[in-house]
Formats: sequence, C-alpha cells, structure tokens
Amino acid sequence: MRGAAATAGLWLLALGSLLALWGGLLPPRTELPTSRTPEDGLPRHLARSGGREPAPRFPLPPPLARDARGGSLKTFRALLTLAAGADGPPGQPPGERRRHVPTGRPRPEERAAVHGGVFWSRGLEEQVPRGFSEAQAAAWLEAARRARVVALERGGCGRSSNRLARFADGTRACVRYGINPEQIQGEALSYYLARLLGLQRHVPPLALARVEARGAQWAQVQEELRAAHWTEGSVVSLTRWLPNLTDVVVPAPWRSEDGRLRPLRAGGGELANRSRAELVDLVQWTDLILFDYLTANFDRLVSNLFSLQWDPRVMHRATSNLHRGPGGALVFLDNEAGLVHGYRVAGMWDKYNEPLLQSVCVFRERTARRVLELHRGQDAAARLLRLYQHHEPRFPELAALADPHAQLLQRRLDFLAKHILHCKAKYGRRPGT
Ligand SMILES: Nc1ncnc2c1ncn2[C@@H]1O[C@H](COP(=O)(O)OP(=O)(O)OP(=O)(O)O)[C@@H](O)[C@H]1O
Ligand SMILES: [Mg+2]
Repeated sequence: MRGAAATAGLWLLALGSLLALWGGLLPPRTELPTSRTPEDGLPRHLARSGGREPAPRFPLPPPLARDARGGSLKTFRALLTLAAGADGPPGQPPGERRRHVPTGRPRPEERAAVHGGVFWSRGLEEQVPRGFSEAQAAAWLEAARRARVVALERGGCGRSSNRLARFADGTRACVRYGINPEQIQGEALSYYLARLLGLQRHVPPLALARVEARGAQWAQVQEELRAAHWTEGSVVSLTRWLPNLTDVVVPAPWRSEDGRLRPLRAGGGELANRSRAELVDLVQWTDLILFDYLTANFDRLVSNLFSLQWDPRVMHRATSNLHRGPGGALVFLDNEAGLVHGYRVAGMWDKYNEPLLQSVCVFRERTARRVLELHRGQDAAARLLRLYQHHEPRFPELAALADPHAQLLQRRLDFLAKHILHCKAKYGRRPGT
C-alpha cells in the first residue's frame, strides 16, 4: 500500500513538473479587461452617473481652482466622446488618440477644398468676403475720434447701458459703456489681437473715447449723457455701426444636439458635398474658433456648448455676438469677454474651449502662419501692446494686459501652435497621398 502510494506520488510529481514547464513556456498571464475603477470598484459608467441618471452631456463647470486641468477635464472629454482625442495636440495619452483614429483618404472634392492636408485652398480663401480693410479701419478710427456726437439713442446696440451715437456727418457708432472697466479693456485688446492675427476684416473698427460732459465730443448731447448715467471720466468704446446685419446659425459640423463634436478635417467626410458658399463660411468659422480660443471668449459658441445641457436645440439658434454683414462676411461683435474677463475664468471654460478648438483641423494658412510666428517669437503680448499703443491714443487710460494674462496669451498661442503642428503631422500631405 505504501509502495503504491509512493509510485502515485512520483507520478504526480512528474506531472506537476511537466505542467510547470509548459506554463513557463506560455506568455505571462494577461488580465481580462475590466470596467471597474480602482477607487470605487464600480463599473465606470455607473460610477460616473451615480448608478441611475445618465451623466449630463456637459457637466457644470466645477469651481475654478480645481478644474484648470486634470481629472474633470478628462471626465468631460470622455463624456463628450469627442474625436478630439484623435485631433488633440501632442502629449495626449496615446490610448486616447488611438481610440478615435479616423481612416480613409480625402475624397477629391474634399481635397480641392483643402491644400497640404490642413489648409483651406487658396481659391476658397479668395472668396471670403473682404470685410473691413486696414485702410478703411484706419480712416474710420481717425474720423470717429474727431467726430462730435449729435444724438445718443437707446436701443440698437445691446444692453441698456449702451447707446447708438450719431455723429455730425450722419455716420453712427455703437457706444459701449462697461459696468466694469475690464469689459472695455477686453473689447479693445481683442480688437487689436484680431488685427495682430490678420482677422481685422471680421471685427468692427473700435476707438476709445472718454465721457466728458464738458468735452467737445459730447457737447451737443448733454441731456442724453445725463440720462445714460455714465460716470464722468470713464472710457467707453465706439464701434462702427454696421447696417443690415443678419443672424448666423452655426454650420453643420458643430450643430450638435448630443454634445458630440466631430473633427473638421479633410478626409473626415465633413467637407464632402458642401456647397462653395458653405465652405467659404467654414473658412471663417475656423478663424472664429481659433480667435475665441485665444481670447478665451466664452460668449459665443462655447456658451452654446454649455447650454446644450438644458437646451439641445441651442446650436440651431442664432449664435450670440455673431452676425453676417451684407457682403457675407462674419462679424465678430462684442468681444468684451475676451482676454481679461475670459482669462480670469478660463479654467472654468477651457473644458469647452479646448475640445472646440481641437474640433478644427483645417486652418486658414495665413492665420496658422501668424500663430506659428507668435509661438516662435514668444513675444505675443509685447507685439499686441505695441500695436495697441501705436493705434490707440487712449491706450494709457485703460490698464494694459496684466502679466499673468500676458503669459496666458502666450500659453494659449503655444497650445494652438502645437495643435496646428499636430494636425499637420497627422493629415499633412505626404508623398503618395
Ligand atoms: N457695431 C454695431 N453695428 C450694428 N449693430 C450692432 C453693433 N454693435 C451691436 N449691435 C447690435 O446690438 C446687438 C447687441 O450688441 P452687443 O452684443 O455688442 O451688446 P450686448 O450689450 O452684449 O448685448 P447682448 O446681451 O444682446 O449681447 C447686436 O446683436 C447687434 O444687433
Ligand atoms: Mg453681447
């Protein structure tokens, strides 16, 4: 009995060694994928939604200090299921990027709209309506500074603190009075940033003026000035009044009801079967999105993205602070949220700003070139202030860009430059494509 047991033991030992040897030849054991989060042990989708309600498409921005980067942004990206993962700037986790890699080559009509894989074609660029030329803007600014206001009316220029001014020569201007000086500061700085980027054709010429009841400019509207309750000595902005502006609805690629943004790029199908007019519009929209990203202006498309939480049709309504001039050019009105106020709250809105920017992978070549220049020079704020100072005599009457904001402008330009280079690396034309 003992002998039989010993023999059986020897057999078992031999069998165990064989199994161990075989196991050693196998690749290391791979873990089965699991959807549990390490912290809570719940499946990720349930953990996110609290187990009952589906997660909101655009969660409310969490408090400022915590949300500048990191966790909440990642959660937002996941919720947005934005293919921006594919189009994000370098440095994103490769896994995120791989998940959304688009396939397929641009169709011929898409290729014709785009050159070099990422730039709008020259033919399309040439069809973008001219808007305000540099010379027209300069002439208007000079005239507005000397002009005497003969009427100051309520209505036609937005909120009740603004006025529509008529000058002695019959031309008109919207006068914007800031409840807070940073509104006028943001408006003026944004105007000069648009000029620095070559986008001035879309932003109405803007001059600063000082409210002085006894000054020559306001002498004929004393009564109206009193009724406006503007503080004596405050700086207001005058923008050229534009007749016959019409509303604008965001074009199809961003007209989402479910919060999903699809990357706009050649070969992504978004440009296929678009009319020439639609493509010319898209050229302008891509500039607008870049501009609003740089200035952190949340008061246009980004506020729409935010409102999608409770208003799924918001993208089908007129976009605030955006109009079309009679010549067809998009007019970026009301940039007061840009650069100053926008920068103060950028941490809160960047979870919308960044995916929106990353949804653009086709650029106006000239805009991209300017951005890359400002990235290389690392001197964007200095150049902006030089331009502002050179063209606006009242420059010293408003605060310039504070140091942290100057640095943020440069960081945003750097982020944008990286995004452009990323798109170029990914979609730029390579031999044989
Ligand atoms: N320069 C201008 N030329 C023509 N119309 C203008 C001009 N500026 C403003 N307006 C008109 O006034 C409206 C509001 O302008 P704006 O956004 O600058 O002011 P607001 O006080 O921010 O008002 P809102 O809250 O409606 O945005 C615009 O939608 C436009 O119809
Ligand atoms: Mg407005």
